[in-house]
Amino acid sequence: MARRKIGVIGGGFVGSTTAQRLAEKELGDVILVDILEGMPQGKALDLVQAGPICGYDSNVQGANDYSSLEGAELVVITAGMPRKPGMDRSDLLRVNGEIQQKVVSGIMEVAPSAMLIIVSNPLDVMCFVAHQVSGLPKNKVVGMAGVLDTARYSAFLAMELGCSVRDIQAMVLGGHGDSMVPLTSTASVSGIPVSQLISEQRLEELVDRTRHGGAEIVNLLKTGSAYYAPSAAAVSMAESILLDQKRVMPCCSLLTGQYGIEDTWVGVPVILGSDGVEKILEVELSASEREALQSSAASVLAGQAEVAQMISIA
Ligand code: APR
Repeated sequence: MARRKIGVIGGGFVGSTTAQRLAEKELGDVILVDILEGMPQGKALDLVQAGPICGYDSNVQGANDYSSLEGAELVVITAGMPRKPGMDRSDLLRVNGEIQQKVVSGIMEVAPSAMLIIVSNPLDVMCFVAHQVSGLPKNKVVGMAGVLDTARYSAFLAMELGCSVRDIQAMVLGGHGDSMVPLTSTASVSGIPVSQLISEQRLEELVDRTRHGGAEIVNLLKTGSAYYAPSAAAVSMAESILLDQKRVMPCCSLLTGQYGIEDTWVGVPVILGSDGVEKILEVELSASEREALQSSAASVLAGQAEVAQMISIA
């Protein structure tokens, strides 16, 4: 029996690290696609040559077109232009919208039932583009944002408490960007509400740092944006889908009335399994969290309308 095929589109920092993590976990054979000639082939060969040292035998193949993705079960899309310092997410809307449109049409020609994990920014709006262009059922398109934002929030909480990140339970909902909604009401460390251990004011500072977690790294790197944590987040979602782990993760999904939000791609807790987004969980939020989620959704909805006009999709 052939191994399952996993596509990664975009062989830049996030894409190549994603391919590496997928290969190391032996989740399947990986096809890395980029428009740059030779680059995905070179990185793929390098990853194959790391196999004997690291002890994995996943095959990794590079390509400049989609033909080798035929039969792929899952495709992670990282293609796009990364955010540069001082650049607003909405500046990226047109260019990344067009890239997303091209990429998704290319994938659908050869792998029409592949599950899509979207990583390209601005994330929530790119999920909308991918869903519209692919015509896939909504459970088969999912965006990676909440897992990354939650990881950042958890890392900051653990740093503050001087404890292991393993014992932090936290969740960040909403859009990926300034309007994200890190939940303070349910954040806990080994079951103890963090509000009992961290003052309200300090917690607000950590929430603020989480909200600007991506920008903090962009400012330090000067060129490019984060990729270790984003690729780890995307691969944890891929793993939950491919191994039908049914993990509860905050993911960008199409809401159809949940949380009082319609037709908008927003980060919410979902069960992620072999059927993709198998269930959206509606959890109780404080009044201010609910309000923040709805305002985050409103800004995504505006972005959806804007991109639909820019690149002429319905
Ligand atoms: N098809 C395939 N690959 C493409 C296409 C396309 N149509 N257009 C661009 N690419 C490739 C680029 O050639 C580049 O190699 O996408 C890659 C993007 O890689 P980087 O510039 O290194 O960006 P990266 O840091 O990986 O971020 C990728 O993920 O987190 C998000 O905001 C980030 O949207 C960005 C994406």
